[in-house]
Order: sequence, then structure tokens, then C-alpha cells
Amino acid sequence: MRGKDYMAVLQAVTEVMGEAIHIVDASGKTILYNEAMARLEKISVEDALGKPFRQVFGSIPESESTLYQALVNRREIRSKQQTYVNIYGKQVTTINTTIPIIVDGQVVAAMEVARDITEIKDMSDRILSLQDSISAGSRTQPKPPGPDEQESEAPRPAGPGGIRRYHFEDIIGEDPGFLQAVERAMKATSNTASVFIYGETGTGKELIAQSIHYGGKRQKKPFLAQNCAAIPESLLEGILFGTEKGGFTGAVDRAGLFEQANGGTLLLDEVSAMPYELQSKLLRVLQEKYIRRVGGSKDILVDVRIIATVNESPQELIDRGALRPDLYYRLNVIGITLPPLRERRTDIPILADRFVKKYNEEYGREIWMIADAALEKLKNYNYPGNVRELENIIMSAVSMAEEEHVLTADDINIQQGYHEEHSAISEFGREGETLSEYLADIEQTVIRRYLTSNGGNVTKTARELGMLRQNLQHKMKKYEI
Ligand SMILES: Nc1ncnc2c1ncn2[C@@H]1O[C@H](COP(=O)(O)OP(=O)(O)OP(=O)(O)O)[C@@H](O)[C@H]1O
Ligand SMILES: [Mg+2]
Repeated sequence: MRGKDYMAVLQAVTEVMGEAIHIVDASGKTILYNEAMARLEKISVEDALGKPFRQVFGSIPESESTLYQALVNRREIRSKQQTYVNIYGKQVTTINTTIPIIVDGQVVAAMEVARDITEIKDMSDRILSLQDSISAGSRTQPKPPGPDEQESEAPRPAGPGGIRRYHFEDIIGEDPGFLQAVERAMKATSNTASVFIYGETGTGKELIAQSIHYGGKRQKKPFLAQNCAAIPESLLEGILFGTEKGGFTGAVDRAGLFEQANGGTLLLDEVSAMPYELQSKLLRVLQEKYIRRVGGSKDILVDVRIIATVNESPQELIDRGALRPDLYYRLNVIGITLPPLRERRTDIPILADRFVKKYNEEYGREIWMIADAALEKLKNYNYPGNVRELENIIMSAVSMAEEEHVLTADDINIQQGYHEEHSAISEFGREGETLSEYLADIEQTVIRRYLTSNGGNVTKTARELGMLRQNLQHKMKKYEI
């Protein structure tokens, strides 16, 4: 193949991938500049291609030109966020990676790959201003930031104008291990030490966190919650610590959640999803009690109680390199472990009773009892989604109950458990079945199972399945899940 053909192949590959790509050769001449990059920078492919890039992008000083830095100083810059105003005056935010391409010790080219995250950044800005307006005491319920976000993805304020408010009296359970955890939480109300809660999804981590906040001296101050897994890594820092107007970053002046929660409590869900670097910044903030906004130079004193949660064992997270041990020890001043529902089965009937009462009221029903067979069914299930799943089962049973006063086994609609469902996948070789149909079947089953056990949370499910969220959403559409 000739060099020209190689270039055509490369050009086609980059167009299909959709990432914006700019490659310069050792002399600084642009040898590849694709349509995606042209759209992003509003410079036509013809204007860039074949020209020395310093001529086309001369307005950017050498020290700030990432391509120049890669080419001349062999500097590799990964995942750097940049915000700039394009020639049409539109503010564009990208995540850029620039690398020198080295062959036999010589820099032969430099490549920049950019991903347009303008929309994601707009979303995070909206989340923050939404948060601002709520802490300012606005009574109007804000619109969710976008059509495709789930409730759990935006920081969830609770309390006045907020969404939920839990107290210790809402916590149900008599299992000794569980009660021990609740007792530790109660003790936490008398101080402001950091709290670390470990429990699978649906075991009541938020319930405990809110009860601690609303049971203590900080109850009149804000309680804010942020799921660290729900926000793109590059934006999390700005959301937590705020941003300051800066020439290069183009960010606006805005307080982050630490400032907004000042005097109150900040719940950091899935803290292990926070990038490792940011975890050490968080540790520093906890030690020094000062934050600095992204792009800012001022230290701001904050007084925020941190409650952090994880839904996998902390030791495993540390071993896997997802959670910094130093941060863990700093957060785990008060450590609380919530047992999964399958390990406190005696609480199943107690919880079920309480949920029947709750949904009687909600749906105007008068269910007086749960039939023995129904109770057996409830007791024998494994509850990958824990108390949340049990609550959902009762909710739908009460709303759909055939009889007026009794919940029967037929009303209890339990999703099949892991093992049953797993073995329900047939052997390959049904008539006329192709391998790809068979594999699609398995894929679909696994996705459904994980979605169910995560209470429908797409972000979490994607992470557990080791795939991109967009990919998962695409597959859900395909399988009509
Ligand atoms: N002990 C309990 N008593 C009463 N309700 C409970 C209890 N534990 C959990 N629930 C209910 O289950 C649901 C899930 O609880 P919560 O949101 O606190 O779980 P979580 O551990 O934060 O889950 P996730 O990891 O998915 O965020 C809530 O509706 C809550 O009211
Ligand atoms: Mg939670």
C-alpha cells in the first residue's frame, strides 16, 4: 500500500470512530485533520491539511499548545479538559489527549484526540445551579437536568424543598447485627466525625446517612448528596469544589457542593468511583478543612461533615486500587456495615408488614394480612436488591392484590433469582438458532438480571458489566428492556 492509501485508511477509521483527530508530522505539518475536528474547531479540513499547524493556530502560545508540547518537548498530556470559544462565539468544552509518536527514539509525529463534552459540561453546570437555587431556599421543584438522567444521578438535596427526609424512626429491623449498625449511627449524631457506610445496594445507606444528619445538631443546615459514579470524572472536581473564572479553562465562578453544604452534611455515594487523584485531594480537604475552587487561588474554609458510602467491601476496593487506603482510614472514623437482607432474614416479615401498611395508605387499600404461602415465598428469596427490592415487591403486590384483605402468593411477583435464571439459559442448538442469536439471548438475560439487582440504575449496571453506559443504553433499546 502506498503512503497515500494508508492516509486514506486512517482518515476513514477516524471518521467512523467519531473522535476528533489532528496529527502533525515531525516538521509540524498537519498530515491528518478529520471532519470531527473540523466541526469542533470550526476550521475547514482544507485550511488545516498540509499546512504547518503553527501557521493555522498561531494565536495559541507555544506554552499552551499541547501539540507543540508533544512534538518539541515530548510531553504527553492525557484527558485534559479545555474550554474555549469557537469562532462563532459558542463555548466548547473538550477532553483532549495529546501524545508524541516516537519511532526508534525519534518523534515522528504528534497526535491530538479530542472529545466534545460540551453537553456533559452543560449538564453539570445545570446540576450546580439547580443545587444553588435549592440551597438558596427556592421552593419550586427544579426540573431534572436532562431527559436521560435518573433521579440518583443528580445531587439529591433533602429537607426543605428537597426530595426525602429520613429519621431513625423510619428505620425498621430487629436483627442484632443490623441493630448494632443503627446504634453506631445513632452515636454519630452527637459529633461531626466522618462516617463510612458499607452496604450492598438497597440496604439503607441513604436512610442511615439522612438519619444521622437530621438527628444531630446540623439538622437545620443543608444535607446534600452526590453519587460519585454518576458524573464524568473530569467534572466531579468542579462539582465538589466549585470553579473559578479562568482564562484557559473558561469556567464560571461557582460554589461547589462543599461550599453549598457548609455547616451541614455532604453524602458522597460510591466514593470509590472517584478518580484516585481526586481522592487524595479530598483527603487533603478533610485534613485541612480548606477547599480551593478549580482554577482558583483562594483557600476557602469549609465545615462539612462527610458521610461516604461504598457498595463493595472496602478491603476489596483497596486491593483493587479503587479506594485509597489513606482516604479510607480518614473517612472510617465511624464505620458502619449494613448487612444484606438475605443475611437478616428474620427482618423480612417485619419489613413486609410495614410496607403493606405504607402502601395501603398510599393506594387506599385495606390489606390486613399476608397469607402464609405468600410469606414463605418472600422468605425464600435472595433479594439481590435488598430492602429496596422487597419494598418494590410489596408495593406492586398491594396495588395489584386480587383479594380485598389478603396478599396471596399469586400477588407476590418475584423476579427469578440468579441461579434459576442462569440455568434457565438453554443449551445451544435449538432448531434454526444461530450462534449470535444464542449469544444475544445470554446477553439479554445477564443485562436484565443486573439491572434488576441494581434497581434499574443504568450507570451502576454498566460499571458492573464493564461496559460504557452509552453502550448499555444502546443494548437496552435493542432488547426493548
Ligand atoms: N431498614 C429499613 N427500614 C425501612 N426502609 C428501608 C430500610 N432499608 C432500606 N429501606 C428502604 O429501601 C430503599 C433503599 O434504601 P436506601 O436508598 O437507603 O439504600 P442504599 O443503600 O442507599 O442503596 P443504593 O446503594 O442503591 O443507593 C428506600 O426506599 C428505603 O426507604
Ligand atoms: Mg444510596
